Amino acid sequence: MDQIVDEVWARLNAGANAGNERSPFTMLQVATIALDGAPAVRTVVLRRVSRERRSVMFHTDVRSTKVSELRRDPRVSLVGCDLDGGIQIRLHGVARIVETPSDTRAVWDSSRPRTLIVYRTPLAPATPVASPAEAHATTLAEDPDSSAGFENFCLIDVTVSSIDYLDLNPAGHRRASLVFEEGEWRGTWVAP
Ligand SMILES: Cc1cc2nc3c(=O)[nH]c(=O)nc-3n(C[C@H](O)[C@H](O)[C@H](O)COP(=O)(O)O)c2cc1C
Repeated sequence: MDQIVDEVWARLNAGANAGNERSPFTMLQVATIALDGAPAVRTVVLRRVSRERRSVMFHTDVRSTKVSELRRDPRVSLVGCDLDGGIQIRLHGVARIVETPSDTRAVWDSSRPRTLIVYRTPLAPATPVASPAEAHATTLAEDPDSSAGFENFCLIDVTVSSIDYLDLNPAGHRRASLVFEEGEWRGTWVAP
């Protein structure tokens, strides 16, 4: 079971350190509980992983719906899939919204400028627009100020408490249920 824990974190780590190369776990889907209690899911880019802290992080806009949802209920579920390898990793945990400038500034400064453009629009995500061009006009504007939009930028830091690992290997499917208890990952095989 220790091998499975190692594999999960190695795969997530590869996802977060993808650089210019695609890695199956670079994009994850994150599920929250919407304000009306319905499930809500969307794709995000996995930015940082820390096995020691049991943490996975992504970047988002503080004005986005998901942030409002997480302020109300910080429980999240994330899923990623390696289609070629037939591996699915599901994570459950609690999200912390990291928005204090002292915690976000270094990440903002080290991010590639093109990834920060989205934070520079005055239009909050989901604001109705007459046409897509109306949003482009503000988002794509060249802004000489590298701090522009910083106030809209935040990190979501998820502390993972349980993991569901599924391997659809043709030689035999395997599924493991991992829970972090008393300072360690404890796992059991379960029927796929
Ligand atoms: C490939 C891809 C990567 C994305 N990465 C992010 C991301 O890292 N952070 C983010 O907030 N939204 C990202 N999005 C957009 C979200 O999926 C979503 O549409 C947006 O954040 C609004 O979600 P919300 O209304 O649930 O807050 C990405 C979308 C795609 C298609």
